[in-house]
Amino acid sequence: MNVKVDEPTIVIIVGISGDLAKRKLLPAIHNIDTAGLLPDKFRIVGVSRRELTKAEVLPAKGVGAVGEKLEMYCMDLTQVADYHKLAQHLDTIEHTFGAKAQRLFYLSVPPQVTNSVVEMLGHSGVLKHPNTKLLLEKPFGTDLASAEELVANLKKYCDETQLYRIDHYLAKEMAQNLIMFRGGNSLIKDTWSKDYIESITVYASETIGIEGRAEFYERTGALRDFVQSHLLQLASLVLMDLPDINKWHDIPTHRLQALQALEAPRDIAHDVIRGQYVGYRQEVDNPDSQVETYVSLRVYSRDPRWEGVPITLTTGKALAARTTEIRICYRKGAAAHANELVLRIQPHEGVTLRFWIKHPGYDHEMQPLPLVLAYDNHFSGLPAAYERVFVDAMRSDHTLFTTSDEVLASWRVLAPIQQTWDMNNKELVLYEPGQEPRV
Ligand code: BG6
Repeated sequence: MNVKVDEPTIVIIVGISGDLAKRKLLPAIHNIDTAGLLPDKFRIVGVSRRELTKAEVLPAKGVGAVGEKLEMYCMDLTQVADYHKLAQHLDTIEHTFGAKAQRLFYLSVPPQVTNSVVEMLGHSGVLKHPNTKLLLEKPFGTDLASAEELVANLKKYCDETQLYRIDHYLAKEMAQNLIMFRGGNSLIKDTWSKDYIESITVYASETIGIEGRAEFYERTGALRDFVQSHLLQLASLVLMDLPDINKWHDIPTHRLQALQALEAPRDIAHDVIRGQYVGYRQEVDNPDSQVETYVSLRVYSRDPRWEGVPITLTTGKALAARTTEIRICYRKGAAAHANELVLRIQPHEGVTLRFWIKHPGYDHEMQPLPLVLAYDNHFSGLPAAYERVFVDAMRSDHTLFTTSDEVLASWRVLAPIQQTWDMNNKELVLYEPGQEPRV
């Protein structure tokens, strides 16, 4: 499939001085460029509040040509007049292109600033310009009420087709494979239900801590940072009904139905573990911090296909290994043993099916052994998630972006946990870095 974008494009990264731009966004644009997928007429406008040079925002190495496509732009994000000036500046760029361009505003700003920047962009009329898109980073709100406010605010200024809410986990190669893998294999497709599957786990551990993002993390915590978005989205890909073949664009609707069918945990004390790694409090300089760096929760779906199947969502920082995987435990049924299917999202994408075989020899002992399909042995150069995000936003493909309704549905699942935690801080379990919390 040819995914090269022909349409002239200006990407405006609001918050170019941030970590995300340096670590993920600029390298992603560089890779898209190297793959020959950028439009011929392309510019990045890096917006920051204080005067910065390109050298200050570009990664130390490896993105040479991107530097030539980048221009820095300093403005006061609180002044509507500055947005008018920015719009004029974008007109000037179009002039040099000799053509109208699509405008992608990428808001790479702290969550507490998002709303006001959206308001300014809307107020100044910048979002009304034809072919303007708005790319938003999570977290989308901090709870159901603030997400509803954000959704309502966005609706005032732009319509849903202009919006691209990024959950970069949906853009990971294995997350997309999950959908095709489920539909494309008879063994899997026909057994994808409570009749054959006993439990589902979506597990994401990181070895890193909060990487200096103390202020952000103190306001966020793992439930908001990871569960509301990445884990629930991955779960929705496991649980949703598959779209008809060729109706790939229906996927967000299917994800939404899966999210809406999820029940919030009923017994928070029993179904939710909330942990914090030892050392976190010093890192954020808050000896009383109750912010969780680890969460594990069990939920159920009302969808008759999944009735009674426990779905465990777990994520944590400062754990022993960096692993994201989906584990599907099959029922034993009348067999001697049960099998497990593991879809490894990162690192080292792959699929493992744990079988039981006869241990070679005279005895009749069985032992479990994995049948491993490792992507590393078959493929190389998989596009990184943020590359996919840019390419899809440029070609107006919404499939891998989350809709307002999905965001609200996932907050609804988590609302009772947030309410309980707000009232009661006693259940925080401390864990040593490198070890799962013991409860
Ligand atoms: C981000 C979270 O969305 O995802 C971070 O805010 C987390 O806390 C990161 O570290 C993990 O992303 P990846 O792609 O490196 O697994």
